[in-house]
Amino acid sequence: MDSEFDLVLDSAEFFFNGKVYKKCIGLKDGKITKIKGLLKAEKRIRCSRKFVLPGLIDVHVHFRVPGQEKKEDWQHGSKAALSGGITTVLDMPNNKPSICTAVELEKKRAIVEKKARVNFGLHFGVSPKHLNEIEKAKNFAALKVFMGSSTGSLLVDKSIEQKKAFSLAAQLKKIAMVHAEDEGIIRKNLIKAKENNKNDIRFHSLIRSVEAEIKAVKQAIALQKECGNRLHVCHVSSAKTVDLLRKEKLENKNISCAVTPHHLFLSEHDAVKLGNFAKVNPSIKSKADRRALWNALLNGTIDLIASDHAPHSFDEKNTDFFNAPSGVPGIETMLPLLLNAVNSKLLSLKKVVECCCINPAKLFKLKGKGKIFVGMDADLVLVDLKKEHKIEKDRLFTKCGWSPFEGWKLKGSVDSTFLSGELVFDGEQVVSNKKGLELQF
Ligand code: DOR
Ligand code: ZN
Repeated sequence: MDSEFDLVLDSAEFFFNGKVYKKCIGLKDGKITKIKGLLKAEKRIRCSRKFVLPGLIDVHVHFRVPGQEKKEDWQHGSKAALSGGITTVLDMPNNKPSICTAVELEKKRAIVEKKARVNFGLHFGVSPKHLNEIEKAKNFAALKVFMGSSTGSLLVDKSIEQKKAFSLAAQLKKIAMVHAEDEGIIRKNLIKAKENNKNDIRFHSLIRSVEAEIKAVKQAIALQKECGNRLHVCHVSSAKTVDLLRKEKLENKNISCAVTPHHLFLSEHDAVKLGNFAKVNPSIKSKADRRALWNALLNGTIDLIASDHAPHSFDEKNTDFFNAPSGVPGIETMLPLLLNAVNSKLLSLKKVVECCCINPAKLFKLKGKGKIFVGMDADLVLVDLKKEHKIEKDRLFTKCGWSPFEGWKLKGSVDSTFLSGELVFDGEQVVSNKKGLELQF
């Protein structure tokens, strides 16, 4: 007999129009089909004392395919995502080769389509030499603009080229997502640091300085005003930056920004202990900067939390500071860290849902995502706010096998994850090989 539901989440607590409800959520054919006090079904999961969230949407990940599969791939990355309650990822284009031509985008899509076990979208990289490729490229999430160089060879540091990129974004109604650090300032600082043999993580925030971020963000805002595109500033890291964005956003509704878990939870003090395992661009800054990021998150200046999951192998990191690549993994630790922060009263669970589900879905116009509502996709995560656990490298799914949060004791964990209505992560293991679907933009 064809039953009304494939699965019912029984007595689930969840946010519905901003308020907490406790009801049954009926799932059928990958969708949420009914929400009611009581629903009958053969297959049901008791959710008492757990909270159901919409599957998280991480708009900034580096799954390293093609070209750097030694650091990460979609098999490991998908598992890491699902174990962290993330059911949709948008992947960055700084691959080998860079994804800055229509042909490379299609080649990447062909691989990812087969391997993704999480819903996905792909970003397109802006390269000054290949600006004409932007109009040819099909179905990409946003245009990624590296205003300063980071991992990979993508770089748009001349204002004339940045302006062209933003104009194309406006024309194609795409978001320009900027890595905002000024290339000129970074280079000058790096040369100075090398001359003085400052080969130590302590100098990273002086090389990748607040000034470098501020200059680039100012430039991005000025160009956005000229071009009229939507602008998203990735991974803000300093008090001055969020102050500038707060003022600008009062009047300008075409600007959004995100923060990463590593900028929220780490400061320079931790970086000194972690060494290159906290080398990341933009740099981790002072405790005062970190405090300002939290304030900006709470007052709505910051719209999204995105992991910027950027794995590098242990060996690559385990070298001298100048030669170590920048980037830290973070996709599977993001939600547990945030749940722990909820328990510590640093933010509300509602804010987590806003910044990790609702706002990413709104910004990228993702149909069926980000909310628990009849008709939405049944991408869901059950969280246990009371469960205590420890971040341990042996239990991580990322291929790089380490975390800057190793050993952190947290309260609040992912109980299980559902992708298109199917249980895919049971709290310990990924238990299904269900394919992820590509989003349409
Ligand atoms: O630290 C970083 N790592 N920042 C970036 O912008 C890129 C990322 C990576 O891909 O490794
Ligand atoms: Zn990134």
